[in-house]
Amino acid sequence: MPKYVLTGADGKLGSAAAAFAAEIAKPEDKLVFTAYKLSNIPKESLEAWQAKGIEVAGASYDDTASLLAVFQGADAVSMVSTWAFGDRPKQAARVIEAAQQCGVRRLCYTSFVGAGLEVEKEEDLPFLPRDHARIEKLIKASGLEYNIQRNYLYQDNIAELFVPSWPFCGDSWLNNTHHVRAAYVARDDCGRVLAALLLGRGQPNKVYHVTGPEAVTDGQIMDWICDQTGYQCEFIDMPDAELRRWWADRGLPEDAATGDFSGLPMKLCMEDLLCCGEMVARGYMLETSDVVERLTGRRPLRFRETLMKYKANFPVAADTSDCDHVANHCRE
Ligand SMILES: NC(=O)c1ccc[n+]([C@@H]2O[C@H](COP(=O)([O-])OP(=O)(O)OC[C@H]3O[C@@H](n4cnc5c(N)ncnc54)[C@H](OP(=O)(O)O)[C@@H]3O)[C@@H](O)[C@H]2O)c1
Repeated sequence: MPKYVLTGADGKLGSAAAAFAAEIAKPEDKLVFTAYKLSNIPKESLEAWQAKGIEVAGASYDDTASLLAVFQGADAVSMVSTWAFGDRPKQAARVIEAAQQCGVRRLCYTSFVGAGLEVEKEEDLPFLPRDHARIEKLIKASGLEYNIQRNYLYQDNIAELFVPSWPFCGDSWLNNTHHVRAAYVARDDCGRVLAALLLGRGQPNKVYHVTGPEAVTDGQIMDWICDQTGYQCEFIDMPDAELRRWWADRGLPEDAATGDFSGLPMKLCMEDLLCCGEMVARGYMLETSDVVERLTGRRPLRFRETLMKYKANFPVAADTSDCDHVANHCRE
């Protein structure tokens, strides 16, 4: 009975992975889902998983003993990256060591596009792939078999992080992608790929680029979003330094963990914000791959399909913005 351990099963990507793993597991597979804090798992998920015979346990990348307890006898384990920028390689090292001690054969990891860029010094890498590049090196040096997925930026980021900033920015998208296209991917598809890799659908020691189905500009995405509600937004492309100044003047923190985000429309530290645009502007996400469909059997979601889920949170045209009750009244 092969045992597969999915860590971070309660997270946004992790819960998509958990749902797909539960769907595709064979009757003889033993699944273990872990969460950093068990209390974070929604009751319905916990009950649904347990009803399917899935073991649920607590395990933190900061606590070796908790990892050793769940990795015993596992064939493969998966690790998602956390938000602990800078500390993530240490967390990964703990996971790798625990996997080695437990005789785990294979490790799956959710990396990021750009982690494989050839640079002279680590500091030459853009901010976001830096930790991932270090973690990939640790994994490759560990002797464990691996499957690494390098995710493109999520389509979901646009709805969750950028759209809420538009009204704050004077009904404009202050942007540093310089009109370059990018094949943004649905987070749900990244989660499904993780499950597929964990359950053995990948090739040994292979790195997969997980992309959306089409490369589009941020301007095209913005226009589509505006069309959904009639909201009017201006696309303003800026040099990185100017965008940095604009947000610094409004107190955007440099550090995601310790910064004060109250009064700001998004929880994205300065380097993260700038790097999202930089990754696109440098053309790192122009190419599409067939990885999502090949590993999951479902074609990758288009941005319109993903973003429709967030429509209730899109800004609306100024003349109707707080007048839902008026609109309802008129319809009656
Ligand atoms: N490609 C992209 O566009 C993109 C965008 C955003 C993020 N990312 C990367 O992808 C990762 C996953 O993203 P996401 O959207 O799924 O975010 P997320 O839900 O916050 O995922 C992070 C996961 O790590 C878990 N975690 C935190 N600290 C941990 C610890 N010490 N030990 C074990 N698990 C721990 C979290 O558990 P709790 O939920 O219980 O805290 C959560 O399950 C992010 O952390 C980031 O590195 C990529």
